[in-house]
This record gives sequence, C-alpha cells and structure tokens, in this order.
Amino acid sequence: MARIERTDVPTYDFDGQVAFVTGAGRGQGRSHAVAYAEAGADVVVTGLSQGIQTSQYPLATAADLDETVRRVEAEGGRALRLRVDVRDESQVEAAVEEAVAELGRIDVLANNAGLWNVVDLVEMSERRWDELIDSNLKGTWLCAKHVGRHFAERGGGGRIVSTASTAGLVGAKGSGHYAAAKHGVVGLTKALALELAAHDVTVNAVAPTGVATPMIDGIVDTVGEAALQSVSDASGSMNVLDGRLIEPRDVTEAYLWLSSDAARYVTGVTLPVDAGMLAK
Ligand SMILES: NC(=O)c1ccc[n+]([C@@H]2O[C@H](COP(=O)([O-])OP(=O)(O)OC[C@H]3O[C@@H](n4cnc5c(N)ncnc54)[C@H](O)[C@@H]3O)[C@@H](O)[C@H]2O)c1
Repeated sequence: MARIERTDVPTYDFDGQVAFVTGAGRGQGRSHAVAYAEAGADVVVTGLSQGIQTSQYPLATAADLDETVRRVEAEGGRALRLRVDVRDESQVEAAVEEAVAELGRIDVLANNAGLWNVVDLVEMSERRWDELIDSNLKGTWLCAKHVGRHFAERGGGGRIVSTASTAGLVGAKGSGHYAAAKHGVVGLTKALALELAAHDVTVNAVAPTGVATPMIDGIVDTVGEAALQSVSDASGSMNVLDGRLIEPRDVTEAYLWLSSDAARYVTGVTLPVDAGMLAK
C-alpha cells in the first residue's frame, strides 16, 4: 500500500524561545531539534550517554551531535552543544545551568533520549534493567526536575514533552523493562502536569509506534527481522494505516503542537502517534 505523503503541515512560531532537546544526536531527537530551529528557536543540543554496556546497537556519537548542531545552525538557530547522559543528575543540572547562562532561558524541554533492547524478562540481567530504566525513566524525571525548577524560578510558564511509546500504553513482549519504563513516563507526565500547573507549565507525552530511526535498524541487525516481527506481532503493533514504520517528522509534529500555545490547555496527556495501532 502506498505511503501517505505529508502535504499540508501547520507552521509554528518559536521565535525567541529556547528548546532543550535530549538524545538530539540522531533519529527523532535530531528531527525535533531541527524543527524547533526551523520554527525560530535556539536549541540546546544534548546527548552522549557514557558507559552503557547492554545496548544491542551503537548509540549516538560525538559526530552525530555535531551534525545536529550543523543542521540547527543551517536553519538560523543558535545551537548549544552539551554532553549530557540523562542518567546522571550532576550532568543534567550543570547542562540546565549552562543553557540558561548561555541562551538566557529555556522554554521547551523535549525529553526524547531513550534506549531499547529485546530480551525476555526472565532472562534479563540486572544491569540491562537498570541501564534502560535509568535512561528512559529516571533520565526523563531528572531533566523535568531541573528544567521544571528553572520554569518555576523564571515564571511565565513552559512546556515539557516526553517520549513514551505505544509500549507505555500496552505490553511489549521481549521488552518488559522498556514497557515498564514507558508506562512510568506516562504516570510521571500526569504527576508533573499536576505539580507544575501552578507555574503555567504544561507537561505531556507522545506515544509513537515503530519509527524509522537507527534504534530500529540497530535492533534488526542484532536480533534479526524475524525476532522483531514476533515482538511486534505479539504487541498487535501492525499499524492500521499502512503497516509500516512512521517517520521521525510524524512524531516531531506532535512535539511542536504540544509545545506550542495552540495546545495551551492540553496537559497531562499521552498522545499516541501510532497510525491506529492502539485502536485495534
Ligand atoms: N524508534 C522507535 O520505533 C520508537 C518507538 C517509540 C518510542 N521511541 C522512543 O523515541 C525516543 C527516540 O528514539 P529514536 O527512535 O530516535 O532512537 P535513536 O537510538 O536514534 O535515538 C535515541 C537517542 O537517545 C540517546 N540516549 C540513549 N540513552 C541515553 C542516555 N542515557 N543519555 C543521553 N542520551 C541517551 C541515544 O544515544 C540516541 O541519540 C526514545 O525515547 C525511544 O525509546 C522509539
């Protein structure tokens, strides 16, 4: 079946704003970073985990981060490149301080960094569990904590958008730690929305189905297409619309809307970008 081509996408105005993007070296994070710059924002381009041993595919490199910086600058945005492993509170806190010192403020937190790997829960090592939960859940909280404090101190509101997954709303065979972390992001989003409402901060999440990024390519290379298909079939993850992976830009559009004033009264929600998967 033919892909549905994007034709008429809305435009957003983030002129004068600063977006802080985690996991910005490639994939969805790069797409979000470049899109905020296209819409007029300056961008804090963060990434580069350190010492993760259980990933089943290579993570983003310094060269990937440099390329995102180049693309943000090509859109006319200022880019501040920072090494931040989101699992490490001292790195997150220092990055938020440096971003505010260099760019004056943060308006949007794009909480995108994350890992995925495929191992049954009964076979899983503690290290694999910890590295994924810390990257996907603790890191999402740490970034929200420190950017949220900045929002509260600065006044004037702010936006937080985090990436959950369809695996944050239904189970995921072979990825129980991932499902647990992403369900955690959904709960964290609701709690943060309640706590930060007094500061005019909205907090939302997106729940993408399979997205064509190096994460999926890396898992296919490691566990094989058949294993991935079995994981996917068990989760009922065949997209209703055309059965294929969606593109990073499809998720970016949800980010842009949720972090724009068009969505000023939307908070605490997790928006599926799932081509109908969860409707089945
Ligand atoms: N690709 C998919 O099918 C899919 C589907 C649903 C949700 N997601 C989620 O989307 C987000 C983006 O993933 P992607 O598809 O662009 O994959 P990706 O692997 O291309 O990008 C993820 C980025 O996060 C970074 N990262 C991982 N752990 C980190 C850590 N501890 N500290 C700092 N950076 C870290 C990686 O280096 C990489 O740059 C992730 O949260 C992922 O779980 C992906």
